[in-house]
Amino acid sequence: MPLSFKHLTSTKQLTREDMDAILKVTEDMEKVYNTGGNDLFKGKVFANLFYEPSTRTRLSFDAAMKHLGASVITADGLQFSSMYKGETIEDTIMVVSQYSDAIVMRHPEQGSADRAAVVSSVPFINAGDGPGQHPTQAILDMYTIYKERGTLDGIKITMVGDLKYGRTVHSLSFLLGLYKDVSFTLVSPPELKMPEKVTSFFAEKGVQYTEVEAIEEGLDSDVIYMTRVQKERFEDAAEYERLKLKYILKADHVRDRDITVMHPLPRTGEIDTDVDALPNAAYFRQVRNGVVVRMALLAMLLGKE
Ligand code: NCD
Repeated sequence: MPLSFKHLTSTKQLTREDMDAILKVTEDMEKVYNTGGNDLFKGKVFANLFYEPSTRTRLSFDAAMKHLGASVITADGLQFSSMYKGETIEDTIMVVSQYSDAIVMRHPEQGSADRAAVVSSVPFINAGDGPGQHPTQAILDMYTIYKERGTLDGIKITMVGDLKYGRTVHSLSFLLGLYKDVSFTLVSPPELKMPEKVTSFFAEKGVQYTEVEAIEEGLDSDVIYMTRVQKERFEDAAEYERLKLKYILKADHVRDRDITVMHPLPRTGEIDTDVDALPNAAYFRQVRNGVVVRMALLAMLLGKE
């Protein structure tokens, strides 16, 4: 089934049918990945533009592209690009469209992905637009929940930490909200609460959610999704220091519980390393899922599944 869109900038674009189709193609791609890749995109050139720091997203897109036989061109760092000289996002994208068959971009400005998609003549994928959205992370999170828990309907999820600036929790909320009887426990200090754009979506869809301040109130869930406090979004360094380690998940929190621990990574202390050895710890499996999900998305956006 083809996707209902050409460019992927936000998880708000996806229908449940899109999401179900992506899960299916991803399962097929996982088999391709496990058997050494293929030549689906032989002769194609894909562009990775990363104007904000990234390790996982950039390298997993690179790996996904190469596992499908494509060549990859890359631009890294705002300070080394023409945008630094004053070129607009629109001009950069129109130029890169001439060189490539698909474009992936991370940029610090919220809304930059929508501006890019409007002018891109090739499929465009948002790899994070400031505090806005990070749709491919959310899709790999969905695939991870599906694989770890066997279902998406009825999932109880606890989201912990920086729910204000964390774009991955925003994107994931919009996707999980498409499924039946999903409920959210949102754990954050009052300063870092889930923004209204997400809670109004919950209200509109009739999705159940509760907002609490203690991590202990969120342990009776299927999934606990930890996040890093987003240092780069704070204007006041002292405020960041005050809030950065409000929540630390320790092995004792989850050891005797049937709860899956996820994190988009990088972690900066909010999951103690003693959790890593527990079967609950899914965050490194989640990373691996990032490659196969991105392989599936590229194939589907280019009409090659
Ligand atoms: C996340 C991001 O960039 O938003 N990282 C990622 O893509 N895996 C989460 C974060 O940086 O905290």
